Amino acid sequence: MLKAIIGGTGVYDIGDKMSEKAVWTEYGEVLIDVVEVQDEEIAFLARHGKNHSVPPHLINYRANMKALKKVGVKYVYSTAAVGSMNEKYKPGSIVVIKDFMDFTKSRPSTFYEGKEKGVVHVDMREPYCRNLIKLFYEEAKKENLPIAGEGVYVCTEGPRFETASEIKMYKSLGGDVVGMTNVPEVVLAKELGMCYSTVGIVTNWCSGIDNLDTAIHDISQAIGDKKEKITKIFTEIFKR
Ligand code: HPA
Repeated sequence: MLKAIIGGTGVYDIGDKMSEKAVWTEYGEVLIDVVEVQDEEIAFLARHGKNHSVPPHLINYRANMKALKKVGVKYVYSTAAVGSMNEKYKPGSIVVIKDFMDFTKSRPSTFYEGKEKGVVHVDMREPYCRNLIKLFYEEAKKENLPIAGEGVYVCTEGPRFETASEIKMYKSLGGDVVGMTNVPEVVLAKELGMCYSTVGIVTNWCSGIDNLDTAIHDISQAIGDKKEKITKIFTEIFKR
C-alpha cells in the first residue's frame, strides 16, 4: 500500500472499508483499515480511534507512522480539526497547512533516540509536501470545494483548549490555526521519508477571538459535510 489517509476528529472512516490489518511495530500494534479504490489498496487510520477514544497527547504517533511505513506507505494525506485565530479563516472553511509551530510538551516526537537508533536532525524547511498540496488544489477545484487559504498550524499539548492570552501570543507570532495533533505526526512522517500533507477544517474561533465555548461534539458536527468531500478528493488524487 503506497498511499494513506489519516482521519482527524470527525473523520473516522472513508467509506468502502475492505478489511482490517493489524500491524506490529516496536511501539505497539496498529489497526489499519484497508480500502480498495480502483483496484488499489489505500490505508486508512483514524487518529483518535474510531470512537474518538484517544486524546491528542496520548496518541501513539510513532506506532501509527511506523505501521504505515511497514505496509509500504509513501504518500499521506491527513485531516485536522483546527481552531482559527485568523479572521480570514471562518469556522467551516478549509485551510491548507503550510508550516507549523510546536508548543507540545510531553510527547515522544522522534524515532531517533540516540544509541543504536542514531542521532538525526531532520530538515524542516518544508514539512508539508508541496506536490501533495498542488494536487489537492487541482482536485478541490474540480470538486468545487473552496479553499480559504494556507496557514501556519500551532500545535498545542492539549487536551485543554487555549486561554485567550495564549491565542493572542500565538497570533502575534504568526499562527493562523491551532490544533493538538500535527506535531509530531508531520515530523515522524518526514523522518520516515514520507510525503505528508494536512488539510485543516476550521471548526471554531479560538478563545478570545469570540466568546463562544468550544466543545468536542460541536467540532465533530462542524466537520459534517466537509468530511465526505475532502476524503473523496484525497481518493481521487490517489487514483491518478
Ligand atoms: N484549539 C486546539 N485544538 C483545536 C481547536 C482549538 O480551538 N479546535 C479544534 N481543535
